[in-house]
Amino acid sequence: MPEYHPPLGNRDSLRLDFNENTLACSPAVLAAIKNLSAADLTRYPERGPIEAFAAQHLGLQPEQVILTNGVDEAIHILCQAFLDRGDELLLPVPTYTMYEIYASATDATTRRVQADADFRFPFKALLSAITPKTKLIAIANPNSPTGSVCTREQILVIAEAAPHAVVLVDEAYFHFYGQTVMDLIGKLPNLIVARTFSKAYGLASLRLGLLAGPESLLHWTRRVLSPYSVNTAALVALKAALTDSDARNYLDWYVAEVKQSRTEFLAALNEIGLKYWPTEANFVLVNIGPTHNEFAAAMRKQGILVRDRSADPGCDSLVRITIGTREQMHLAVAAIQKWKSAGVLA
Ligand SMILES: Cc1ncc(COP(=O)(O)O)c(C=O)c1O
Repeated sequence: MPEYHPPLGNRDSLRLDFNENTLACSPAVLAAIKNLSAADLTRYPERGPIEAFAAQHLGLQPEQVILTNGVDEAIHILCQAFLDRGDELLLPVPTYTMYEIYASATDATTRRVQADADFRFPFKALLSAITPKTKLIAIANPNSPTGSVCTREQILVIAEAAPHAVVLVDEAYFHFYGQTVMDLIGKLPNLIVARTFSKAYGLASLRLGLLAGPESLLHWTRRVLSPYSVNTAALVALKAALTDSDARNYLDWYVAEVKQSRTEFLAALNEIGLKYWPTEANFVLVNIGPTHNEFAAAMRKQGILVRDRSADPGCDSLVRITIGTREQMHLAVAAIQKWKSAGVLA
């Protein structure tokens, strides 16, 4: 297995590279974390009550929810619980890197289904790639790095076509899309949904994610779950994020701001003449052409970080740009225009 090192160094600039919240978490959430006492920190974290609270918030039973150390841990424990020698992870690609990384730490193999050049969800190809060996199907919805989506109907058909497999729908970017299959938890016996607090909520450093699924599946994942993987600061933040009305208003404001900003940024890309793919997330995949490396370097020089995705399958020359607030994206547009007028743009 290769080591995976995301480019985390020197990120004091405008961070349009990891699809995080580009501004801040809610002040109410920060205040709740600041209220932690030394005694709180001496105790091992107890996730149970907050897990039950999160379940209630989603209209689910406590047994149907597991809090995790980010969705990354959720993916890790799903692979540990459901993939064994001879099994297959079925993966539409390009997609989020960590599915394949955690699967490679098991004895299973990954079967990739490449999206066409339009990067739409490869529904038919994925359906015909289901075999008796398929044990896990991971669908990021919206997908990263493409921003494309898989419809509810498609998810239903896939789940019914693979009753022997777990279908993970990773809704990390749910807030920017607004559609969910969370309401199907418990109704579809093989559906598991993941959510993160790293993106819209602005809590990436706390490492907080959530798995929702039928108890009959989740009890397998609980067996491989570390009992203390979600720390007290994250638990306190979660409660404030879901209950405090200021925190909820702040989240709504941030999501609305990013959606408006997305519309304006895509219009600006049209004007500049850069090709991009339709997106339902807080990022967009842009075709920069052969000079994608130079582009990312030039943007960094102007204080803006973007993510070169050209090594992803089918993504040669493509760069992913996170969408932040309108003010931030005006800076990004100005930097792209400056780069273009320097005559380097392909
Ligand atoms: C589709 C998808 N799932 C999960 C994650 C990671 O989430 P977390 O920070 O909760 O581990 C990301 C992060 O980029 C992502 O793009």
